[in-house]
Amino acid sequence: MKKLEESVKIGPVTAKNRIAVPPMVCFHWSDDSGRVTEKNVEHYRALAAGGPGLIIGEATCVTKRGRLHETQLGLWEDGQIEGWKKLAETVHAYNVPFFVQLHHSGVTGIDLEADCPSDYDKKVGPHGCRGHEMSLDRIKEIEDAFIQAALRAKKAGLDGVELHGCHSYLICQFLNRNVNRREDIYGQKEETFALEILQGIRKACGPDFAVGIRLAAFEPTLEDGIRHAKALQQDVDFMDISYGFNGESHPEAPEDFLYSAAFYGAQEIKKALPHMPIFGVDGIVNGEQARGVIETTGIDMVDVARGFLVNPDFAKDVLAGRDCGKCLHCKPACRWSPFLNDGVVNCPGRTLFLRNREKAE
Ligand SMILES: Cc1cc2nc3c(=O)[nH]c(=O)nc-3n(C[C@H](O)[C@H](O)[C@H](O)COP(=O)(O)O)c2cc1C
Repeated sequence: MKKLEESVKIGPVTAKNRIAVPPMVCFHWSDDSGRVTEKNVEHYRALAAGGPGLIIGEATCVTKRGRLHETQLGLWEDGQIEGWKKLAETVHAYNVPFFVQLHHSGVTGIDLEADCPSDYDKKVGPHGCRGHEMSLDRIKEIEDAFIQAALRAKKAGLDGVELHGCHSYLICQFLNRNVNRREDIYGQKEETFALEILQGIRKACGPDFAVGIRLAAFEPTLEDGIRHAKALQQDVDFMDISYGFNGESHPEAPEDFLYSAAFYGAQEIKKALPHMPIFGVDGIVNGEQARGVIETTGIDMVDVARGFLVNPDFAKDVLAGRDCGKCLHCKPACRWSPFLNDGVVNCPGRTLFLRNREKAE
């Protein structure tokens, strides 16, 4: 049986335990330049000091037009490398490997006439915009932007990259047949766009740099999610399993399954690909749940996102058997939500955690 405190190999990288901080954007802390600020550095310092086995840096855009927000961090030009170097040095000082999530929004971003595999009107969610079918030249251009961004991450000293292949963004749009209605190879074999990027990154960055993808288990169904995972397996070191295109996918788990549908999907993908390091996510708020997921589902890493926002020491506290605080699931009004705040975060779960800790001391 796997244990939460066990180390785990993710391609060329070893994580000292099985708790990962998944990508979490912090908008408003940078500006239109997309460069890392001191605030970002201090945020990642606190997360790294909190003892996770791995940190995957936030969704970071590979082109300026593909952004989700005007203040999103970027790796679309060389001038952005220096800031990421500082982040990598900061995280590494705590013996925590550091990846970054490479992102392009496609039809789910700020570009109102956006790139998309096919013409598509997005009506669901905060961003409604029109997507235009990408030409073959445009596809190659964006693939290259992902590869160049990965090279910049490598130059900055990061240990690897994760492609953002879920949550309605561009790679996810290619993977979902309700959005991708192309008749060429990018539509006949939906994984082609992701595969060409992954292979390009591997060729450019070499075998010592971890390459993975955050992938939906349900894109639109679990059967499709497993098919995508099988098609991509040769070209990745890990798969981080989450949800698909909002409104065009169908996440579900058996009624007696104890965790989220995304964890169920991760469990099923692990069964299909037993040798692939598989991460799962959604709704873990304490040590008992984190241990339960690792001990019962067979997956390799448990992602904890909002738990680390409530308490950056989440991993240290859970592994020492201490109170780790609790995300109060204010969703959809999460104070951390990039679209609901101006960068000043007053998280009720964190306030309660700090108050309780003060009382106990
Ligand atoms: C403030 C915030 C920012 C997020 N940013 C990203 C992101 O950049 N990329 C991504 O794939 N998911 C992002 N997510 C989703 C989380 O990685 C995670 O999948 C989700 O919060 C569920 O996990 P949890 O229940 O442990 O919070 C974000 C979530 C939050 C709360």
